[in-house]
Amino acid sequence: MTAPPEPQVIDFSPNDLAALQALGRRLGKLVARGDVICLNGPLGAGKTTMTQAMAQGMGLPADQPVTSPTYGIIHEHWGKHQEEYRGAPRREHQGQLPLFHLDLYRLGGAEEELLELGIEDYLYGDGVCVIEWPDRLGQLKPAVRLEVEIEFSGPTGRRVSLRDHAAGWTARLARESISQGV
Ligand SMILES: Nc1ncnc2c1ncn2[C@@H]1O[C@H](COP(=O)(O)OP(=O)(O)O)[C@@H](O)[C@H]1O
Ligand SMILES: [Mg+2]
Repeated sequence: MTAPPEPQVIDFSPNDLAALQALGRRLGKLVARGDVICLNGPLGAGKTTMTQAMAQGMGLPADQPVTSPTYGIIHEHWGKHQEEYRGAPRREHQGQLPLFHLDLYRLGGAEEELLELGIEDYLYGDGVCVIEWPDRLGQLKPAVRLEVEIEFSGPTGRRVSLRDHAAGWTARLARESISQGV
């Protein structure tokens, strides 16, 4: 078996909160059905902040805010199409996709616990899965995904690197740059 190709790395240096939010909104505008986006980084790095900005970029209404949950591991944000999606067959979405925000921080690490939560329905579902503390997934982490690493670089600065694991993000970002003439 040949090893999968090394994922391409794309680096950003948002030097304040607004710049990180702008990057999150930009990524949110480029999501596709079935995307899995893994957010790595220490507490306070900006994973939940990035998820909130992605939700905005995806066009989710602000009246269902993405929060850092004190309780609950999986938060579903269906926007205005909940009834349309629930149990509906896989088909082209009209407009906006649902966001499944998974914060696995409080998880013990047992894969059985994740399977009991129905994790696979989210990971391989019709929405967009954004996952904080994704290493808790262990063997369940999908091979096709975007890995995002957020690191501190000064009081408000961050370094953000994207690793595209065969999910087409490199091409999406390139297409976006071309369409914007940069
Ligand atoms: N450049 C930046 N990017 C992201 N967050 C920042 C930045 N500068 C300051 N912050 C602050 O850092 C905190 C990040 O918190 P949060 O997104 O909950 O982190 P995490 O989910 O990674 O634990 C927020 O209070 C945010 O306002
Ligand atoms: Mg968080």
